[in-house]
Amino acid sequence: MTQAPPPRPLSVTAAGPLTGSVTVPGDKSISHRALMFAALAVGESRIEGLLEGEDVLATAAAMRAMGADIRRGDDGIWGVHGVGVGGLLQPAVALDMGNSGTSTRLLMGLVASHPITATFVGDASLSKRPMARVIEPLARMGADVTAAPGDRLPLTMRGLCPAVAIDYTLPVASAQVKSAVLLAGLNTPGITRVREPIPTRDHSERMLRGFGAALDVEETPDGRIISLHGEAALRAQDIVVPGDPSSAAFWMVAASIVPGSDVTVRSVLMNPTRTGIITALRMMGASIEAVGERDVGGETVADLRVRHAPLSAIEVPPDLAPSMIDEYPVLFVAAAFARGTTVARGAHELRVKESDRIAAMAAALGLAGVSVVEHDDGLSIAGRDGDPLPGSGGARVASLLDHRIAMSMAVAGMHSARAVAIDDAAPIATSYPAFIDTARLLGAHMTWLNA
Ligand code: S3P
Repeated sequence: MTQAPPPRPLSVTAAGPLTGSVTVPGDKSISHRALMFAALAVGESRIEGLLEGEDVLATAAAMRAMGADIRRGDDGIWGVHGVGVGGLLQPAVALDMGNSGTSTRLLMGLVASHPITATFVGDASLSKRPMARVIEPLARMGADVTAAPGDRLPLTMRGLCPAVAIDYTLPVASAQVKSAVLLAGLNTPGITRVREPIPTRDHSERMLRGFGAALDVEETPDGRIISLHGEAALRAQDIVVPGDPSSAAFWMVAASIVPGSDVTVRSVLMNPTRTGIITALRMMGASIEAVGERDVGGETVADLRVRHAPLSAIEVPPDLAPSMIDEYPVLFVAAAFARGTTVARGAHELRVKESDRIAAMAAALGLAGVSVVEHDDGLSIAGRDGDPLPGSGGARVASLLDHRIAMSMAVAGMHSARAVAIDDAAPIATSYPAFIDTARLLGAHMTWLNA
């Protein structure tokens, strides 16, 4: 197991309205895929706006270890010289995935159809997460996997080349599983097919097409069928990564709950497989205005102007879950300030993210003075009708190596009678290294505490 950095406790206190205009880092899902696909393409790709968080840097390091030439220019643009599909080299050392489930599962897909063996290791959080969901289809394609008990990391995968194309129906709505199978299909003769009863984020499909892969998507009454023609030749691309809606969500909720706030978040990805949080917050009465919609690298982006507004409790529609799966922790924070009791069910998957986000948020909000009922698949949260939270006082809420728990509770502290203290804010660096600087720029009060 790899070591997490030393804990960095953080205290957040209320500081009045948040105002200003900010940009968020590049989308995490697109950043991982940009590096992976560029590393498999022939020629030199350029990536602008790459998220330089720890998770994405783990993907970059792994692709380098398998032969790609990846460099960051002084202008912040990344250059990637790919090895070509089929050209990945045997890594000399274990691939350190840190905290990143996306790196792990997508890279397992790539290794599965190359004639190489790779060992994947990760931190304490990642080492608890289930890998059977990717091992199972990849083993059907011919990969051989030895994993720690419970199909967890550390695990070693021996790829098979040529692998066997499969027709796979996703048993769980997961873009990571879909992508792992499609990525394995890139170097596999024939057509690899994934059937997706419930749509999940479609960045792999869009980007693979952009890189020149032959990929068809059919919409049927039973869901989407994605067919990838294997032994693909990917051509280098210039990519601009749009702003991450999952990072923007923290400012959407912060501006909604802190009286007097008026915040604009620029250039946010508006792909409909990712905007469930905007739908849910608007249902609660949030004032979110999307302006200047435009195309960036084949995706729509917009600037989001968010002003404080009184929120009302809702029953969160379970069919929004795939399009806002990473935003539940911060939605729970919004619910804590709403009028009435918000019920969010049908989100079992939250139990197997970087932490068990249902239990983690029940405990954290409880410690900050919110009345919460935990269900097996979600939470019911009694909102405070705009009143500040009591706060956690001297007690520290546990972030459990989960960046989104840490950032969500930091947002909760922005409208709180006493401080909200977080035991460890270091995990924020996995997806949003500039989060605390940006919060301070908008007017938030954050102070580092002694460990
Ligand atoms: C991701 C898919 C989601 C999401 C994760 C990123 C991706 O996971 O939670 O943060 O980039 O494909 P699942 O596919 O497991 O739902």
